[in-house]
Amino acid sequence: MSAGPGGAGPGRLPARLDTPRLVLRAPVPLDAAMVNEAVLDSFEALNAWMVWAAERPSLADSRAFCREAVRSRAAGTAGPMLMLDAADGAMVGATGYPRVDWRVPAFEVGYWCRTGCTGRGYASEAAWALTRAAFDTLGARRVELRIDARNHPSIAVAERLGFELEGILRRDVRDHHGVLRDTRVYALIDPAGLVDPTAAAQPR
Ligand SMILES: CC(C)(COP(=O)(O)OP(=O)(O)OC[C@H]1O[C@@H](n2cnc3c(N)ncnc32)[C@H](O)[C@@H]1OP(=O)(O)O)[C@@H](O)C(=O)NCCC(=O)NCCS
Repeated sequence: MSAGPGGAGPGRLPARLDTPRLVLRAPVPLDAAMVNEAVLDSFEALNAWMVWAAERPSLADSRAFCREAVRSRAAGTAGPMLMLDAADGAMVGATGYPRVDWRVPAFEVGYWCRTGCTGRGYASEAAWALTRAAFDTLGARRVELRIDARNHPSIAVAERLGFELEGILRRDVRDHHGVLRDTRVYALIDPAGLVDPTAAAQPR
């Protein structure tokens, strides 16, 4: 696979991004226990929307997730990242690039917040940083969010950041509960459209 513009290409996915309140860091096998605890804490919320959260993960499952994260990041095919509180290192969720197409280059951004850590703008802050990094350092021509049409908190993240709704794919997926779902496809092709959620959160 060839490198994209500006030398971006497989192997160049960021290992760490810093935002005002968060450290976004690629997982390593030593993170498995922390990841497992955060997913189990948040299981009901994740199980509602995330196909990978069909079952409660064992510690071995979380170890496998961390090992696969290292492999996929090195291969440039996906870039999961932990969302850590910059003040104390606590895991407040996860984010990253679940799908990467270097031929465009195009990046999908995903996110989840730990139960008890929602309502603080962390997902918006993380998705903003990943989108910014995709355009600024990875040569992105497109950044995409794919959201279950019933997932209003996630739709709010997309719209807060200025992503444009391109269309609704009707009945394109049968989810892990067996329910046919519509998917809202949001994208940005110009970083000028990206809204900084920190600025948007300031009182007028
Ligand atoms: C989707 C999900 C991450 C959204 O979480 P969230 O906390 O609503 O989103 P954010 O972290 O961006 O926080 C936004 C909220 O914090 C508030 N907020 C507080 N401080 C803020 C700040 N500095 N910046 C932005 N928002 C802030 C916003 O007003 C908003 O509150 P509201 O929902 O009452 O309007 C969460 O519901 C989740 O983890 N769901 C399960 C997994 C999932 O569905 N993932 C997405 C799959 S596509």
